[in-house]
Amino acid sequence: MKTERPTRVILDTDPGVDDALALLLALYSPELEVVGVTTVCGNVPVEQATRNLFRVLKLAGTPQNLLIGQGASRPLSEPLQTATHVHGADGLGELDRLRNEDGSLSYPNVEVPAELPPAQEVWAQCHQRYPEDLTLITLGPLTNLARALDSNPDIIRKFRNVISMGGAVAVPGNVTAAAEFNIFVDPHAAQQVFASGLPMTLVPLDVTTQVVLNRERILALAAQHANPAIQFLRDATGHALNFSEKVEGQAILPLHDPLAVGVAIDPTLVDLTPLHVQVETEGRLTKGMTLADRRTIRESLKPSSNLKAALSVDAPRFLTLFQDRLCRK
Ligand code: RIB
Ligand code: CA
Repeated sequence: MKTERPTRVILDTDPGVDDALALLLALYSPELEVVGVTTVCGNVPVEQATRNLFRVLKLAGTPQNLLIGQGASRPLSEPLQTATHVHGADGLGELDRLRNEDGSLSYPNVEVPAELPPAQEVWAQCHQRYPEDLTLITLGPLTNLARALDSNPDIIRKFRNVISMGGAVAVPGNVTAAAEFNIFVDPHAAQQVFASGLPMTLVPLDVTTQVVLNRERILALAAQHANPAIQFLRDATGHALNFSEKVEGQAILPLHDPLAVGVAIDPTLVDLTPLHVQVETEGRLTKGMTLADRRTIRESLKPSSNLKAALSVDAPRFLTLFQDRLCRK
Protein backbone atom coordinates (compact mmCIF):
# COMPACT_ATOMS: atom_id res chain seq x y z
CA MET A 1 0.00 0.00 0.00
CA LYS A 2 1.41 3.38 -0.99
CA THR A 3 2.33 5.35 2.12
CA GLU A 4 3.58 8.60 0.54
CA ARG A 5 1.54 11.76 0.67
CA PRO A 6 -1.27 11.96 -1.97
CA THR A 7 -0.43 13.35 -5.40
CA ARG A 8 -1.79 16.89 -5.66
CA VAL A 9 -3.76 17.30 -8.89
CA ILE A 10 -5.64 19.94 -10.83
CA LEU A 11 -8.40 18.74 -13.19
CA ASP A 12 -9.15 20.71 -16.36
CA THR A 13 -12.46 19.40 -17.61
CA ASP A 14 -15.47 19.75 -19.96
CA PRO A 15 -18.18 17.78 -18.08
CA GLY A 16 -19.42 15.67 -19.92
CA VAL A 17 -20.51 12.36 -18.48
CA ASP A 18 -17.11 10.65 -18.44
CA ASP A 19 -15.55 13.82 -17.04
CA ALA A 20 -18.03 13.68 -14.17
CA LEU A 21 -17.13 10.04 -13.50
CA ALA A 22 -13.43 10.97 -13.63
CA LEU A 23 -14.01 13.73 -11.08
CA LEU A 24 -15.81 11.30 -8.76
CA LEU A 25 -12.96 8.79 -9.12
CA ALA A 26 -10.40 11.48 -8.29
CA LEU A 27 -12.37 12.74 -5.28
CA TYR A 28 -12.87 9.20 -3.94
CA SER A 29 -9.24 8.09 -4.31
CA PRO A 30 -6.92 8.57 -1.33
CA GLU A 31 -3.90 8.54 -3.65
CA LEU A 32 -4.95 11.95 -4.98
CA GLU A 33 -5.65 15.34 -3.45
CA VAL A 34 -7.77 17.45 -5.84
CA VAL A 35 -6.60 21.01 -5.17
CA GLY A 36 -8.11 22.72 -8.22
CA VAL A 37 -10.73 22.16 -10.92
CA THR A 38 -11.13 24.34 -14.02
CA THR A 39 -13.61 24.08 -16.84
CA VAL A 40 -13.10 24.37 -20.58
CA CYS A 41 -15.47 24.41 -23.55
CA GLY A 42 -15.79 21.04 -25.27
CA ASN A 43 -18.57 18.53 -24.72
CA VAL A 44 -20.78 21.51 -23.83
CA PRO A 45 -20.29 25.30 -23.78
CA VAL A 46 -18.06 26.31 -20.87
CA GLU A 47 -20.89 27.89 -18.86
CA GLN A 48 -22.76 24.57 -18.93
CA ALA A 49 -19.54 22.72 -18.10
CA THR A 50 -19.22 24.90 -15.01
CA ARG A 51 -22.84 24.31 -13.97
CA ASN A 52 -22.24 20.58 -14.38
CA LEU A 53 -19.04 20.76 -12.33
CA PHE A 54 -20.93 22.31 -9.42
CA ARG A 55 -23.69 19.73 -9.76
CA VAL A 56 -21.16 16.90 -9.46
CA LEU A 57 -19.37 18.58 -6.55
CA LYS A 58 -22.72 18.87 -4.73
CA LEU A 59 -23.21 15.14 -5.20
CA ALA A 60 -19.68 14.19 -4.16
CA GLY A 61 -18.93 16.85 -1.59
CA THR A 62 -16.54 19.69 -2.32
CA PRO A 63 -13.05 19.33 -0.83
CA GLN A 64 -12.15 22.09 1.60
CA ASN A 65 -10.02 24.85 -0.03
CA LEU A 66 -10.72 23.53 -3.53
CA LEU A 67 -9.94 26.25 -6.06
CA ILE A 68 -12.44 26.45 -8.95
CA GLY A 69 -12.12 28.43 -12.17
CA GLN A 70 -13.82 28.79 -15.52
CA GLY A 71 -11.68 28.66 -18.64
CA ALA A 72 -11.99 29.17 -22.36
CA SER A 73 -15.39 29.65 -23.97
CA ARG A 74 -14.04 28.97 -27.46
CA PRO A 75 -11.10 27.15 -29.05
CA LEU A 76 -8.02 29.14 -30.16
CA SER A 77 -9.03 29.41 -33.78
CA GLU A 78 -12.00 27.16 -34.48
CA PRO A 79 -15.72 27.58 -33.81
CA LEU A 80 -16.75 25.37 -30.87
CA GLN A 81 -18.11 21.95 -31.82
CA THR A 82 -19.77 20.28 -28.83
CA ALA A 83 -20.76 16.65 -28.17
CA THR A 84 -24.25 17.15 -26.71
CA HIS A 85 -25.48 14.46 -29.12
CA VAL A 86 -23.42 12.04 -27.03
CA HIS A 87 -23.67 13.49 -23.53
CA GLY A 88 -27.20 14.95 -23.72
CA ALA A 89 -28.29 18.58 -24.06
CA ASP A 90 -27.12 19.37 -20.51
CA GLY A 91 -23.91 17.34 -20.86
CA LEU A 92 -24.87 14.97 -18.03
CA GLY A 93 -27.44 12.71 -19.64
CA GLU A 94 -30.31 15.21 -19.17
CA LEU A 95 -30.59 14.80 -15.42
CA ASP A 96 -33.53 17.21 -15.11
CA ARG A 97 -35.82 14.43 -16.37
CA LEU A 98 -35.33 12.67 -13.00
CA ARG A 99 -37.64 13.64 -10.12
CA ASN A 100 -38.08 12.60 -6.48
CA GLU A 101 -41.47 11.40 -5.23
CA ASP A 102 -42.36 14.97 -4.21
CA GLY A 103 -41.61 16.17 -7.75
CA SER A 104 -38.37 17.92 -6.83
CA LEU A 105 -35.33 17.46 -9.01
CA SER A 106 -33.35 14.31 -8.15
CA TYR A 107 -30.25 16.31 -9.07
CA PRO A 108 -30.96 19.90 -8.10
CA ASN A 109 -29.28 22.63 -10.06
CA VAL A 110 -26.63 24.40 -8.03
CA GLU A 111 -26.04 28.13 -7.78
CA VAL A 112 -22.81 28.90 -9.65
CA PRO A 113 -20.81 31.87 -8.28
CA ALA A 114 -21.32 34.93 -10.48
CA GLU A 115 -17.59 35.55 -10.79
CA LEU A 116 -15.17 32.67 -11.18
CA PRO A 117 -11.45 33.25 -11.78
CA PRO A 118 -10.01 32.19 -15.13
CA ALA A 119 -8.29 28.82 -15.31
CA GLN A 120 -4.81 30.30 -15.54
CA GLU A 121 -5.36 32.29 -12.32
CA VAL A 122 -6.49 29.17 -10.45
CA TRP A 123 -3.45 27.29 -11.69
CA ALA A 124 -1.17 30.10 -10.54
CA GLN A 125 -2.85 30.15 -7.10
CA CYS A 126 -2.40 26.38 -6.83
CA HIS A 127 1.29 26.76 -7.64
CA GLN A 128 1.62 29.42 -4.95
CA ARG A 129 0.07 27.04 -2.41
CA TYR A 130 1.90 23.94 -3.57
CA PRO A 131 5.07 25.00 -5.40
CA GLU A 132 6.67 22.40 -7.69
CA ASP A 133 4.25 19.74 -6.52
CA LEU A 134 1.34 19.63 -8.95
CA THR A 135 0.05 17.32 -11.67
CA LEU A 136 -2.37 18.72 -14.24
CA ILE A 137 -4.91 16.23 -15.61
CA THR A 138 -6.67 17.50 -18.75
CA LEU A 139 -9.96 15.84 -19.66
CA GLY A 140 -11.10 18.13 -22.47
CA PRO A 141 -9.66 20.22 -25.29
CA LEU A 142 -6.25 21.77 -24.51
CA THR A 143 -7.33 25.38 -24.99
CA ASN A 144 -6.73 26.48 -21.38
CA LEU A 145 -3.28 24.90 -21.34
CA ALA A 146 -2.26 26.50 -24.65
CA ARG A 147 -3.44 29.91 -23.46
CA ALA A 148 -1.55 29.48 -20.18
CA LEU A 149 1.63 28.61 -22.07
CA ASP A 150 1.32 32.00 -23.76
CA SER A 151 0.27 34.03 -20.72
CA ASN A 152 2.12 32.37 -17.85
CA PRO A 153 4.79 29.94 -19.13
CA ASP A 154 6.85 30.08 -15.93
CA ILE A 155 3.93 28.67 -13.93
CA ILE A 156 3.03 26.03 -16.49
CA ARG A 157 6.58 24.75 -16.67
CA LYS A 158 6.41 23.98 -12.94
CA PHE A 159 3.87 21.18 -13.43
CA ARG A 160 5.52 17.89 -12.46
CA ASN A 161 3.42 16.07 -15.02
CA VAL A 162 0.61 16.79 -17.44
CA ILE A 163 -1.66 13.79 -18.01
CA SER A 164 -3.98 14.36 -20.98
CA MET A 165 -6.87 12.26 -22.23
CA GLY A 166 -6.73 12.74 -25.99
CA GLY A 167 -5.59 11.60 -29.37
CA ALA A 168 -5.47 8.31 -31.22
CA VAL A 169 -2.10 6.76 -32.12
CA ALA A 170 -2.72 3.37 -33.74
CA VAL A 171 -6.53 3.32 -33.70
CA PRO A 172 -9.21 5.34 -35.53
CA GLY A 173 -10.57 8.58 -34.17
CA ASN A 174 -14.02 8.93 -32.60
CA VAL A 175 -15.18 12.19 -34.17
CA THR A 176 -13.79 11.49 -37.64
CA ALA A 177 -11.88 8.53 -39.01
CA ALA A 178 -8.70 10.38 -38.01
CA ALA A 179 -9.44 12.56 -34.98
CA GLU A 180 -10.28 12.11 -31.31
CA PHE A 181 -12.72 14.69 -29.89
CA ASN A 182 -10.49 16.63 -27.45
CA ILE A 183 -7.84 17.19 -30.13
CA PHE A 184 -10.40 17.75 -32.90
CA VAL A 185 -12.13 20.58 -31.02
CA ASP A 186 -8.88 22.55 -30.71
CA PRO A 187 -6.08 21.12 -32.87
CA HIS A 188 -3.99 24.31 -32.71
CA ALA A 189 -3.99 24.21 -28.92
CA ALA A 190 -2.98 20.55 -28.93
CA GLN A 191 -0.15 21.15 -31.40
CA GLN A 192 1.13 24.07 -29.29
CA VAL A 193 1.05 21.93 -26.13
CA PHE A 194 2.74 18.91 -27.73
CA ALA A 195 5.51 21.15 -29.13
CA SER A 196 6.03 22.96 -25.80
CA GLY A 197 8.35 20.47 -24.13
CA LEU A 198 5.97 20.03 -21.18
CA PRO A 199 6.25 16.61 -19.44
CA MET A 200 3.26 15.08 -21.21
CA THR A 201 1.61 11.72 -20.58
CA LEU A 202 -0.97 11.11 -23.31
CA VAL A 203 -3.89 8.75 -22.61
CA PRO A 204 -5.32 8.15 -26.11
CA LEU A 205 -8.23 6.16 -27.51
CA ASP A 206 -5.77 3.26 -27.96
CA VAL A 207 -6.26 2.50 -24.24
CA THR A 208 -9.43 4.37 -23.24
CA THR A 209 -11.57 2.33 -25.65
CA GLN A 210 -10.40 -0.81 -23.83
CA VAL A 211 -11.87 0.27 -20.49
CA VAL A 212 -15.61 0.03 -21.07
CA LEU A 213 -18.76 -0.54 -19.05
CA ASN A 214 -21.87 -1.83 -20.83
CA ARG A 215 -25.48 -1.06 -19.95
CA GLU A 216 -26.01 -4.43 -18.27
CA ARG A 217 -23.01 -3.94 -15.96
CA ILE A 218 -24.10 -0.40 -15.06
CA LEU A 219 -27.67 -1.51 -14.26
CA ALA A 220 -26.34 -4.45 -12.23
CA LEU A 221 -24.11 -2.12 -10.19
CA ALA A 222 -27.06 0.25 -9.61
CA ALA A 223 -29.24 -2.66 -8.47
CA GLN A 224 -26.57 -3.74 -5.95
CA HIS A 225 -25.46 -0.31 -4.67
CA ALA A 226 -27.83 2.45 -3.57
CA ASN A 227 -25.02 4.96 -2.94
CA PRO A 228 -25.15 8.34 -4.74
CA ALA A 229 -22.13 7.76 -6.99
CA ILE A 230 -23.45 4.50 -8.45
CA GLN A 231 -26.97 5.90 -8.80
CA PHE A 232 -25.40 8.84 -10.69
CA LEU A 233 -23.49 6.38 -12.88
CA ARG A 234 -26.84 4.87 -13.90
CA ASP A 235 -28.75 8.16 -14.15
CA ALA A 236 -26.17 10.10 -16.16
CA THR A 237 -25.13 7.44 -18.69
CA GLY A 238 -28.42 6.46 -20.35
CA HIS A 239 -28.15 9.02 -23.15
CA ALA A 240 -24.56 8.09 -24.00
CA LEU A 241 -25.41 4.38 -23.94
CA ASN A 242 -28.35 4.94 -26.30
CA PHE A 243 -26.08 6.93 -28.63
CA SER A 244 -23.48 4.18 -28.63
CA GLU A 245 -26.16 1.53 -29.29
CA LYS A 246 -27.54 3.53 -32.22
CA VAL A 247 -24.16 4.35 -33.78
CA GLU A 248 -21.98 1.37 -32.85
CA GLY A 249 -24.61 -1.33 -32.33
CA GLN A 250 -23.73 -1.90 -28.68
CA ALA A 251 -24.66 0.04 -25.54
CA ILE A 252 -21.21 0.71 -24.10
CA LEU A 253 -19.54 3.53 -22.18
CA PRO A 254 -15.79 3.97 -22.72
CA LEU A 255 -14.23 5.39 -19.55
CA HIS A 256 -11.99 7.84 -21.43
CA ASP A 257 -11.50 10.48 -18.74
CA PRO A 258 -11.62 8.14 -15.71
CA LEU A 259 -8.62 6.28 -17.15
CA ALA A 260 -6.59 9.51 -17.29
CA VAL A 261 -7.31 9.92 -13.56
CA GLY A 262 -6.49 6.22 -13.11
CA VAL A 263 -3.03 6.83 -14.55
CA ALA A 264 -2.45 9.51 -11.89
CA ILE A 265 -3.66 7.10 -9.18
CA ASP A 266 -1.56 4.16 -10.36
CA PRO A 267 0.83 4.68 -13.28
CA THR A 268 1.42 0.91 -13.48
CA LEU A 269 -2.05 0.53 -15.01
CA VAL A 270 -0.59 1.47 -18.39
CA ASP A 271 2.63 1.02 -20.34
CA LEU A 272 4.07 4.27 -21.67
CA THR A 273 5.90 4.64 -24.98
CA PRO A 274 8.03 7.73 -25.79
CA LEU A 275 6.74 9.17 -29.07
CA HIS A 276 7.08 12.23 -31.25
CA VAL A 277 3.51 13.33 -31.94
CA GLN A 278 2.27 16.14 -34.15
CA VAL A 279 -1.26 17.37 -34.71
CA GLU A 280 -2.78 17.97 -38.13
CA THR A 281 -4.37 21.41 -37.93
CA GLU A 282 -5.41 22.02 -41.55
CA GLY A 283 -6.35 18.74 -43.25
CA ARG A 284 -9.78 18.64 -44.87
CA LEU A 285 -10.17 14.98 -43.87
CA THR A 286 -7.53 14.71 -41.15
CA LYS A 287 -7.84 17.85 -39.01
CA GLY A 288 -7.26 16.88 -35.36
CA MET A 289 -5.29 13.75 -36.24
CA THR A 290 -2.44 12.96 -33.83
CA LEU A 291 0.36 11.70 -36.04
CA ALA A 292 2.98 9.71 -34.12
CA ASP A 293 6.33 8.97 -35.75
CA ARG A 294 6.43 5.20 -35.23
CA ARG A 295 8.73 4.39 -38.13
CA THR A 296 11.09 1.52 -37.40
CA ILE A 297 14.13 3.54 -38.40
CA ARG A 298 17.06 4.40 -36.14
CA GLU A 299 15.85 6.65 -33.33
CA SER A 300 18.65 9.09 -34.15
CA LEU A 301 17.03 9.63 -37.56
CA LYS A 302 13.64 10.55 -36.03
CA PRO A 303 12.56 13.70 -34.19
CA SER A 304 13.03 13.13 -30.44
CA SER A 305 9.92 12.20 -28.49
CA ASN A 306 7.79 15.07 -27.14
CA LEU A 307 5.54 12.93 -24.94
CA LYS A 308 4.91 9.48 -23.46
CA ALA A 309 1.79 7.75 -24.76
CA ALA A 310 -0.11 4.98 -23.00
CA LEU A 311 -0.48 2.28 -25.65
CA SER A 312 -1.47 -0.65 -23.45
CA VAL A 313 -3.58 -0.90 -20.30
CA ASP A 314 -4.44 -3.46 -17.64
CA ALA A 315 -8.14 -3.00 -18.34
CA PRO A 316 -9.54 -5.49 -15.78
CA ARG A 317 -7.44 -3.97 -12.99
CA PHE A 318 -8.56 -0.42 -13.87
CA LEU A 319 -12.24 -1.39 -14.14
CA THR A 320 -12.03 -3.06 -10.72
CA LEU A 321 -10.40 0.05 -9.24
CA PHE A 322 -13.00 2.36 -10.82
CA GLN A 323 -15.97 0.32 -9.64
CA ASP A 324 -14.55 -0.26 -6.16
CA ARG A 325 -13.96 3.46 -5.62
CA LEU A 326 -17.42 4.53 -6.81
CA CYS A 327 -19.14 1.78 -4.82
CA ARG A 328 -17.55 3.06 -1.61
CA LYS A 329 -19.36 6.37 -1.59
O1 RIB B 1 -12.77 11.49 -27.00
C1 RIB B 1 -13.18 11.40 -25.65
C2 RIB B 1 -13.01 12.71 -24.95
O2 RIB B 1 -13.83 13.70 -25.55
C3 RIB B 1 -13.46 12.65 -23.48
O3 RIB B 1 -12.72 13.59 -22.75
C4 RIB B 1 -14.89 13.07 -23.55
O4 RIB B 1 -15.35 13.68 -22.34
C5 RIB B 1 -14.83 14.12 -24.63
O5 RIB B 1 -14.41 15.34 -24.01
CA1 CA C 1 -13.87 15.24 -21.42
